[in-house]
Amino acid sequence: MNEKNTLGLGLLGLGTVGCGVIKTLRRNGSEIAGRCGHSLSIVCASARDLSKKRPVDMDGIALHNDPMHVVNDERVDIVLELIGGIEPARQLITAALQQGKRVVTANKALLAERGHEIFAAAQQHHTEIAYEAAVAGGIPIIKVLREGLAANRIHSIVGIINGTSNYILSEMCYAQKSFQDALRGAQSSGYAEADPRLDIEGFDAAHKLALIAAVAFGMPLRYEQIYTEGVSAIDMKDMVYAAELDHVIKHVGIARRTSAGVELRVHPVLLPQRSLLAHVDGVMNAFFVAADATGASLYYGAGAGAEPTASAILADVVDIARRPQQQHNPGSFSWSLPSASATDLPVVPMQEVSSLYYLRLKVKDRLGVLARLTTLLAQQGISIEAVSQKEPTPETDTATIVLLTHRVREALMDKAIVMLEQLDEVLDPVVRIRAETLD
Ligand code: HSE
Repeated sequence: MNEKNTLGLGLLGLGTVGCGVIKTLRRNGSEIAGRCGHSLSIVCASARDLSKKRPVDMDGIALHNDPMHVVNDERVDIVLELIGGIEPARQLITAALQQGKRVVTANKALLAERGHEIFAAAQQHHTEIAYEAAVAGGIPIIKVLREGLAANRIHSIVGIINGTSNYILSEMCYAQKSFQDALRGAQSSGYAEADPRLDIEGFDAAHKLALIAAVAFGMPLRYEQIYTEGVSAIDMKDMVYAAELDHVIKHVGIARRTSAGVELRVHPVLLPQRSLLAHVDGVMNAFFVAADATGASLYYGAGAGAEPTASAILADVVDIARRPQQQHNPGSFSWSLPSASATDLPVVPMQEVSSLYYLRLKVKDRLGVLARLTTLLAQQGISIEAVSQKEPTPETDTATIVLLTHRVREALMDKAIVMLEQLDEVLDPVVRIRAETLD
């Protein structure tokens, strides 16, 4: 910090989020300074392509191709890592922490996959790394779990945590856009990851869920154990049939404490239309948190985009600026995951998870086919909440049957699906989407 009580910020990355940070700080700089007791000044920034025209005022910001120049600039007190991905972000953050600099990052992939190493480096060098922006942009969910709900035992968190997936599902459902058109829309709005497979195959949501579970349950980061499915296989037909059952298809992350450990899973679900999460559309994210003292609470906001993410980045900067560096005490950093004291709760294997299921079957249009299916499920101990046979397709002599089951263990449902697919009347692989009641 310089003699004028100004904290120097160094930006790694001048993409959507980097530009959002500059714009938000230029607009709200004096209010932010009033709130944290320091002026904040972006002294330098790095980007691969410096010639690119950017929609923000870069006046007074020294620009570098080499991000290490930002890390090493002695005017920089806080490094903002906004590059994403594992390397070179990991090397840059580690180098900043080794110099005792504070780091703010939006990098969920790095923290979920290599977080223990990064948090250990922060502790070792008596500094800290803050990551509110890594999860759900404009919703301060890390602060909610760490501070607001700190007195609670968290039972479960169900979150819509990938803005791109939610945007795609909403555009398919309400604007009848194709999956590819909807994805292009998410990309052009700056919501999608550089590699959009991270969004549509569920990995981005799994990164965020690993962080949320670690904060909520005090457990180690368990990204590699999260059951992960994305939205890429969702068919418009299932949205229509789900609506006929008074449900909506959403992509969620679920972290739930059970007597056997913690369920950690990311996949599409049918949610009842009456549930609040069913009405979270477009790029918006939301969390439904069930805890012992508060009961249920809901958090809603933009999950991606330049300024919502910048808001989270700058909130972490303000938190850091409010505390003098000498107050940092290894082991008690408010942002660090409690890795040293982590309770190693086991992750419940997916086969043991119980869920409701939506099934869609393409069958031969024969008398008694519906009875055969329901009898087979009943013999397996699977009871049915709703069933409907759709208009037959006479040209192909086929019909579609849609079922909604009561709660059943995944292992049992896997077995029942294999048996259904062996029936002569069942023509294609059975489409299965889990369902949640949020009761
Ligand atoms: N690609 C991410 C999303 C960006 O769509 O949610 C915000 O983390």
